[in-house]
Amino acid sequence: MEVIIAKDYETLSRQAATIIAAQIIGRPDSVLGLATGSTPVGTYKHLVALYREGIIDFSRVKTFNLDEYYGVAPDNPCSYRWFMEENLFKHINILPENTYIPNGLAQDTAAECREYEEKIHRAGGIDLQLLGIGGNGHIGFNEPSDNFQSATHLVDLDPQTIEANSRFFASPDQVPRQALSMGIKSIMAARRIILLANGKAKARAVYEMIRGPITPELPASVLQLHPQAAVIIDQEAAALL
Ligand code: GLP
Repeated sequence: MEVIIAKDYETLSRQAATIIAAQIIGRPDSVLGLATGSTPVGTYKHLVALYREGIIDFSRVKTFNLDEYYGVAPDNPCSYRWFMEENLFKHINILPENTYIPNGLAQDTAAECREYEEKIHRAGGIDLQLLGIGGNGHIGFNEPSDNFQSATHLVDLDPQTIEANSRFFASPDQVPRQALSMGIKSIMAARRIILLANGKAKARAVYEMIRGPITPELPASVLQLHPQAAVIIDQEAAALL
């Protein structure tokens, strides 16, 4: 696992955007795995700037997002679909039909998850997966558990995750209790992974991910086994290393 310590959030975001831009220039029909949360917002801003400068073209790029809240409609401002439209998609020339996010309103969640995996497979797999990390070490919405085997599935969110994500909702009781998330298996199948973390609230999870044992109790620790994983963190997130 390559560890890159950036001076600050701005530098981290620029570095992540540079890696993604290089991927798109090298392969214009790249398949990107994308993340939500506050961490990648700066990266998306830099990608939009690179697009506006004519340096990158998204017209052949496909994207698959990690997750979506269960029971939340795409036009709900708390949905991850909304987040992606606002922070990236509406500012670039990606084709709407090339942006995939699990359907939070699916009636048959098992079928939705199976089809999501099939779509990734049909697209040729994910070339570059962008990740954040939860304070409990989750990636996507893969909460601490007893195995690494899952493909896309319906997840029960941890109380800690509900609490952490309540800042995006009017109150904690409005945070959905479940989500559809790509699994650890789906994430590990990506050819290349970059995980971003900033701020001291992530320092413990970052330490455990890099230096701790590989255990599903700290889901991000599985990245130690990925041959092409890089972690880009700011100095605060690196404080315990
Ligand atoms: C959510 C998302 C994760 C994200 C995490 C951290 O739970 N499902 O993909 O990495 O939050 O969010 P933030 O970047 O806001 O700290």
